[in-house]
Amino acid sequence: RDLITQSTWSTTASGIFQNFALVQVICTATRPMGGQKPGTSGLRKKTREFMQPDYLANFVQSVFDALHEVGTQTEGGTLVVSGDGRFFNKEAIQIIIKIAVAAGVQRFWVGKDGLLSTPAVSAVIRNRAGGFKAFGAFILSASHNPGGIEEDFGIKYNCENGGPSPEKITELVYAKTQTISEIRSADAFPNVDLSSVGVQEFSSPDGKRQVTIEIFDPTEDHVAVLQQCFDLEAIKRLMARSDFSFCYDSLHGVQGPYARRIFCDILGAPASCLMNCEPKEDFGGPSCPSHGHADPNLANARELCERMGVSADGSPVMGQSWQVPCMGAAADGDADRNMILGTRFFVTPSDSLAVIVDNCHLIPYFSRDNKNLLRGASRSMPTSCALDHVCKAKGIPFFETPTGWKFFGNLMDSGTYAPFICGEESFGTGSDHIREKDGMWAVLAWLQILAANNVDPSKPLVTIEDIVTSHWSKYGRNYYARYDYEGVDLDSANKMMERMVSMAGSWPADAFETYELQKADVFEYTDPIDGSVSKNQGIRFLFQDGSRIVFRLSGTGVVGATIRMYLEKYEPPAGDLSRHPHEVVKPLAVLALKLSKLQEFTGRDVPSVIT
Ligand code: G6P
Ligand code: ZN
Repeated sequence: RDLITQSTWSTTASGIFQNFALVQVICTATRPMGGQKPGTSGLRKKTREFMQPDYLANFVQSVFDALHEVGTQTEGGTLVVSGDGRFFNKEAIQIIIKIAVAAGVQRFWVGKDGLLSTPAVSAVIRNRAGGFKAFGAFILSASHNPGGIEEDFGIKYNCENGGPSPEKITELVYAKTQTISEIRSADAFPNVDLSSVGVQEFSSPDGKRQVTIEIFDPTEDHVAVLQQCFDLEAIKRLMARSDFSFCYDSLHGVQGPYARRIFCDILGAPASCLMNCEPKEDFGGPSCPSHGHADPNLANARELCERMGVSADGSPVMGQSWQVPCMGAAADGDADRNMILGTRFFVTPSDSLAVIVDNCHLIPYFSRDNKNLLRGASRSMPTSCALDHVCKAKGIPFFETPTGWKFFGNLMDSGTYAPFICGEESFGTGSDHIREKDGMWAVLAWLQILAANNVDPSKPLVTIEDIVTSHWSKYGRNYYARYDYEGVDLDSANKMMERMVSMAGSWPADAFETYELQKADVFEYTDPIDGSVSKNQGIRFLFQDGSRIVFRLSGTGVVGATIRMYLEKYEPPAGDLSRHPHEVVKPLAVLALKLSKLQEFTGRDVPSVIT
């Protein structure tokens, strides 16, 4: 490190960086800034907060301090740095590179224009070829939250398995942010040109340090992994059917280039199937149909839903003057989430997961000679129990984990349960092909299932609705809805939850009206691989008929608290399978409000959104 402090730098690349300034590692005194506790998916704050002097640098330095403490070798290592393209993405990349150079990182992998989707980062860490292996990645994203100088920004560190940091790392990072006193940064290292694909080499005049910056096409590695998972030729034949049509909304997030490459270049879909596929720093901002919320759900992906004939509550809208496509799908800002729609038909994320698992023998990654190779499946606790029925019927090892993708990682890494499929109600679905949820994977999984059901072009098309309704008539239907109460006072939300926690086990017998309680508890998870225990992961009321009420506080919000209330009612195959979910769960909502005293605690009488 002392060497670096002394040295100046020159570049071997011709052109742009010939005349850059001299470089020194500068040690700047700093102090803890408070509030830098990573949530479910890294640190998320208002962009302006991140733009304060040293705010981002403090966090990044704390990550390196934590990595050094756990023995991660950063000197001479390879690091991935990129983001979803939101406002401050490019500036943040330059800040991170300078600190990482000071920490001895030798090689940087950056997507062109600083773009990499979250699943692509995971693929790059795990699979990028060329004789090097990344030790980790910084992902710049606040996922589905709006971007812009007045909106949200985020940063997350992923480890060498390609997945989000485990809790022991995020806790250590947090501890470091509370005691940090110094930022070590190669401040005069030139700003890197992110705009053209190629390799930029830098070396110190004494020749003792080299730094290589590799800018590459962001789709390269992710597409290569997906090509291993699916039979894209079969999907191409489906796309070519004259009675099949498809559209995809990237909501101006990072998915645009991936969508173009996969759907148009590889699968032959017309460019007209792509909606909002230019990545923008504000995801289109307030004036676009999603109001800058690159969030693939019924409330925000309105333009896609309208094209598909789906209303904001998921019910069909008839009478379009255009031909409604057979399938529509969307991704969030960093492209790890997905929404799947059929013609005038919404597939809930929980059902989507169950259907994919039930049909995974149609996906090459999970089958050989049409034999199912799947060795494990999992859902987060609040996700509906639709998956449980499939796993039970097929004898697939099943796991119920707390909310957050990181909990799936250990199961995948164990090897025992791979290949593995998992998903969450929050529009996340994926498998062990990488260690993040994967919006593109989910869409290709559905396309593969559709393709396998539509091999004969002389037969009428089997639709998404056909596949889902026949799934219900086999396994029954888990009617489901989530009520979100956003921007609630944090203290009141905590008090409401604490009261229910303290009541667990002592609810009066008549508290549940006509429902017969099986169990009321606070969800706790013991990781079957490393034995670690995660406590206090939400409050559950489980009823004899399979109905459930779940409460938890969101871990991804930026201001105040968001209370999530999850409602579920199981209807067996012989029952009425064609009702509107919101109607079906209404009595449960009434009961849930009574049990929680939500209105009393928060003053709210209606949810901000029902999904
Ligand atoms: C992120 C994580 C998901 C998780 C979701 C929950 O998207 O990647 O794994 O399901 O947050 O968000 P919440 O706001 O409910 O904590
Ligand atoms: Zn996301």
